[in-house]
Amino acid sequence: MSENRLLDIMLARRSVREYSGEKVPMESLNLIIEAGLAAPSSRGRKSFELIVIRDRQTLISLSGCRKGAARMLAGADAAIAVLGDEEKSDVWTEDCSIVMASMHLMASSLGVGSCWIQGRLREALIPDTTAEDYVRGILKFPSNLRLEAILSLGMPMEEPAPHSLEELCFDKVHINTYLS
Ligand SMILES: Cc1cc2nc3c(=O)[nH]c(=O)nc-3n(C[C@H](O)[C@H](O)[C@H](O)COP(=O)(O)O)c2cc1C
Repeated sequence: MSENRLLDIMLARRSVREYSGEKVPMESLNLIIEAGLAAPSSRGRKSFELIVIRDRQTLISLSGCRKGAARMLAGADAAIAVLGDEEKSDVWTEDCSIVMASMHLMASSLGVGSCWIQGRLREALIPDTTAEDYVRGILKFPSNLRLEAILSLGMPMEEPAPHSLEELCFDKVHINTYLS
């Protein structure tokens, strides 16, 4: 525990990959989406698009978007694919990453398990297919929209321990210059 409520929420955030099968309440899903939409974006251009997936068969199909790293989608109750419009912003990856992080944090604060599944620059389970092309084939989005990542969502089966202030890597903080 720290002495700050927001930092406590941030320390408690963990990646959760095992889900109970219970439904994520609609109010929680809405708050998670609102957190994503509230994210800052370069020049306020909001270069991101979100696709919310609740269809079981679609979630199972999406679990093949990575070699192993997306397995949890098959057991998830929902997922949100975050896409960036490369015609709207050259920094769509940054815009989309903040949306992902905001939704992941909001999910954790509501007791909803979630995990970031990297899509950009990754390969699908089937050979010679990018994760992006695989997901595009299922979710049917145009070529100007690029896949950043997918957030898997479900009520947690596991409760990973919160991070602690003690384990933060303060050695990554450099004062004034990198080399002292
Ligand atoms: C950019 C990024 C990509 C990630 N990609 C994946 C992924 O494809 N599959 C996965 O299971 N976890 C993925 N993760 C989750 C990390 O493995 C996880 O955040 C890290 O191991 C630290 O654990 P914690 O989130 O519980 O603190 C990703 C996280 C980030 C920030």
